[in-house]
Amino acid sequence: MLTRKRFLSWLLLPVLALCSLMALAEPEGAAQALHLLSYLGADYPATVAAGQVVDSGEYQEQLEFHGVLAGLVAALPANAGKDGLLQGVARLGDSIRERRDGAAVADQARQLAADLVASYRISLTPRITPDPARGAALFAQHCSVCHGEGGLGDGPAGIGLEPPPANMRNAARMDSLSLYDLYNSIGLGVEGTDMPAFAAQLDERARWDLASHVAGFSADPAAARGASFSLEQLAGQTPQQVAAEQGPAAAAALRAQRAAPP
Ligand code: HEC
Repeated sequence: MLTRKRFLSWLLLPVLALCSLMALAEPEGAAQALHLLSYLGADYPATVAAGQVVDSGEYQEQLEFHGVLAGLVAALPANAGKDGLLQGVARLGDSIRERRDGAAVADQARQLAADLVASYRISLTPRITPDPARGAALFAQHCSVCHGEGGLGDGPAGIGLEPPPANMRNAARMDSLSLYDLYNSIGLGVEGTDMPAFAAQLDERARWDLASHVAGFSADPAAARGASFSLEQLAGQTPQQVAAEQGPAAAAALRAQRAAPP
């Protein structure tokens, strides 16, 4: 009997594997939608102050991003959470048009991203622990021409680009992005800039390795022991969020650990 059961389970294995693969496949447009939400959350706050637009070019871009986001969410397959998401997208649009406070809009964008992740069961966690040393070699090969060897955004091919390549030592900026956000920017590129999409050229693992290396530019390795985070937390949380919820030592630990995942 035992052998027979085993035999049966072997027969079933490929079917199970196929099911889990299907469960893993995220709907088209979902990563792009998360990418836009991360941009809205990080970039919108600097465009308004006290109900007034202070940077109209950037503010217009936020409105455009929101339009693209609305289209992407509308195109997602129907499920139990989709109506709620569409309402959330509409409310986010209202807030942007009403020039609401940056922190409130950033919160709305983050909440919407969390709802999207939950209702489509999107995995934000790398399958293999990122290797920042491998990321450093890839960075020298593909990225430092623009971002500079030290990540300051001062590489020779970046001269004259508008906007210039991101400065990865800008701690405030890096604190507003999760490792998954960085991974997503590397794979999808950044719309309206010269940042190329590397998804066709660099596989998932390489993109996570790079994200970890990039996060290292604003991290203090000595702070790694403040708190311990799971790979899921390292990938999905921002130092800004952790600072607000658990204090500065925990945020410093997150920064250090995402640059050198245990
Ligand atoms: C052709 C020049 C160029 C190359 C090559 C390039 N980048 Fe970029 N990168 C940019 C520009 C321009 C931006 C946009 C900056 C902005 O949005 O203000 C950017 C933005 C980014 C961002 C988003 C940062 C943020 O603040 O949101 C990340 C992450 C990034 N690059 C990583 C990489 C990595 C990793 C590589 C190599 C695999 C790479 N880039 C290669 C030009 C480049």
